[in-house]
Amino acid sequence: MGKKTTNSLDFTSGWAYAPAPEDTKHIQLKKQYDLFIDGKFVKPTKGKYFETVNPANEEVIASVAEADENDVNKAVKAARNAYQKVWGKMPGAERGKYIYRIARLMQERARELAVIESMDGGKPIRESRDIDIPLAANHFFYYAGWADKLNYAFPNRKPKALGVAGQIIPWNFPLLMAAWKIAPALACGNTVVLKPAETTPLTALKLAEIIQESGLPEGVVNIITGAGKTGATLVNHPDINKIAFTGSTDVGKIIQKAIAGTSKKSTLELGGKAANIVFDDAPIDQAVEGIINGIFFNQGHVCCAGSRLFIQENVADMVIQKLKDRMETLIVGNPLDKNTDIGAINSKAQLNTINNYLKIGKDEGAELYQSSCSIPKKGYFCRPTLFLNTSQSHRIVQEEIFGPVLTIQTFRTVEEVIEKANNIPYGLSAGVWTDKGSKIFNLTTKLRAGVVWANTYNKFDPTSPFGGYKESGFGREGGLHGLSAYLEF
Ligand code: NAI
Ligand code: MG
Repeated sequence: MGKKTTNSLDFTSGWAYAPAPEDTKHIQLKKQYDLFIDGKFVKPTKGKYFETVNPANEEVIASVAEADENDVNKAVKAARNAYQKVWGKMPGAERGKYIYRIARLMQERARELAVIESMDGGKPIRESRDIDIPLAANHFFYYAGWADKLNYAFPNRKPKALGVAGQIIPWNFPLLMAAWKIAPALACGNTVVLKPAETTPLTALKLAEIIQESGLPEGVVNIITGAGKTGATLVNHPDINKIAFTGSTDVGKIIQKAIAGTSKKSTLELGGKAANIVFDDAPIDQAVEGIINGIFFNQGHVCCAGSRLFIQENVADMVIQKLKDRMETLIVGNPLDKNTDIGAINSKAQLNTINNYLKIGKDEGAELYQSSCSIPKKGYFCRPTLFLNTSQSHRIVQEEIFGPVLTIQTFRTVEEVIEKANNIPYGLSAGVWTDKGSKIFNLTTKLRAGVVWANTYNKFDPTSPFGGYKESGFGREGGLHGLSAYLEF
């Protein structure tokens, strides 16, 4: 056995990958970022700024403006003005050209965006480079194509834009969530005020630069930064027609209460606790890869993460052993290293939440298993973790942990696993692994989840709608369904 390093792949042969860090020299970051309102970067009224850090080394990357009520008012006013005077009147084909231009500029700057995404949020460069950034650009391409075809998308229904959309996004897929929100809103003729999460504002601000470069009319997209208070001010602004939110179920409930009794429309994409179900006839090695991808992808900071594993009893020992073996090869460490599988936890607060759940799980009597990899001393990191001997009533099985932590249960019959999988307040996604098509169709109709993946996991495409049942929220983003969330008929 070789000496363990952060890049440890040495559990059998004693060798490790040489470091392969992505270059950061090509990126352009300012020390301070202002608010993007009415096509210009403007200082916050009160002159307040907060810092965004790199969670992999705890270093401050930049300071970012904190928008207060005055700033929110300015942004909404700019959006309303742009809606009434320019964007709401512009023919769809013209709107489409701008959206295409934004997509192309994102592609041109993809490498820079990927590096900044990994620095600001902690996700492995392999993911930001291969998943987040290309998918974000693809959302703009996809919705650009709809801009002049809304009448065909909804025949005989005369679709009309809503007006100004307030959009609030989380820190787990910062640029991708901005794209999910902005692209369909613009395609339908709305203008927007977007607030990124306070720990990951930088790629949204780079997108503001791209939007400026694209020549999009001023005020069509406004990007304001700040924390929950700024978000709440946006939600409560009287001149907003729609709130689109992705984040925690707790904040989703606050938003629903805040807009009750108003004419504001809303789509909420909230938490999840997906069942990933492995039958004894599944291609087991493929399933093990899918389980690993389902829970360790993006440090488990994924609302649709496959965080509850159900294995058919007669193959459980084998699947668990294969999982443990595969976990041992996962590289935890520098997000900018191309070999890294699991990057940094997004913030100190999120790491505390995860560590608290590890304690809760042990106190509840579940058996904790972690890979033996070493983790960097500086920064926020968590080893890939399994909880064995868990039961339905455990908090670690019922509550969203949002970290690289997988709970494992076994089952004997199809009926039993459907009941267990559905016995949870959430319903965002699920996974099924089996050789039998009939079993897949049986489960897709009975699992109360917005997305069910079969023999794969965490697959995304702009053409395919995404959204939840129960406390995972309502409304759909992506695809044709994603358009109707920004239209009235
Ligand atoms: P959060 O829900 O507080 O943050 C999401 C966004 O909402 C951020 O932009 C935040 O500034 C904003 N926000 C916070 N309070 C608000 C309010 N009262 N009104 C309007 N906007 C508000 O999520 P947080 O605290 O960062 O994470 C807590 C937990 O939420 C995580 O551990 C995870 O379980 C879950 N979560 C789920 C996400 C998902 O994709 N469904 C994304 C992020 C977190
Ligand atoms: Mg940050």
